[in-house]
Amino acid sequence: MIKITKYSELDSNTKTILKNYIDTEFGHIPIVNKTKWASPDYTLIFYHNNKIATFYNIVQRAITINDETYKVAGINNVITPKEYRGKGYASKLLKETETYIFNDLKCDYGVLLCADTLIPFYKKLGWYAIDCPVYFKQPNGKQLWKANTMLLANKNKVKPKLIDLKGLPW
Ligand SMILES: CC(C)(COP(=O)(O)OP(=O)(O)OC[C@H]1O[C@@H](n2cnc3c(N)ncnc32)[C@H](O)[C@@H]1OP(=O)(O)O)[C@@H](O)C(=O)NCCC(=O)NCCS
Repeated sequence: MIKITKYSELDSNTKTILKNYIDTEFGHIPIVNKTKWASPDYTLIFYHNNKIATFYNIVQRAITINDETYKVAGINNVITPKEYRGKGYASKLLKETETYIFNDLKCDYGVLLCADTLIPFYKKLGWYAIDCPVYFKQPNGKQLWKANTMLLANKNKVKPKLIDLKGLPW
């Protein structure tokens, strides 16, 4: 069962469980700790036998791509707890919630900031890697994203020359 909840309406127990998974996966990475991240707007969870088997968050944002404004779903903290990995759950959740991103939230693109190793995983799901400067906000000013950015297009596969996330990264 897939459950989509506004992050602000997520019960505190679920929030704590997700936070523990996030801290375990990414809490030890220096750049993750040094960066100020956006708060999620939605949490999407796939439950297997009433247990959280995979999840991710969406930050909804108007960003600019080549100086044009687009509504996007910023995807973050895609995590499958260790005991559920390799069963296709993350792929299933990402695939089955595309309609939510494009039809319900009416986003033009999904935007993912990710590590090199995961590019093939997302490519299989229809995402494409882009190669252009991506800027985001931090308390001390604008910064350039140094890792990868991938897009999932609803209709047109844009080839960006410049992206501004117009806020904190996700
Ligand atoms: C990445 C992750 C969400 C995949 O979840 P999952 O439910 O096991 O995913 P699926 O079963 O749908 O697909 C597994 C695929 O992911 C690939 N994969 C998982 N982790 C990977 C990694 N670190 N590097 C490269 N590939 C990876 C597997 O090789 C597998 O590929 P295959 O389908 O060609 O065999 C899970 O491994 C995880 O939580 N990792 C730690 C957190 C993380 O890095 N999240 C991504 C943030 S962008």
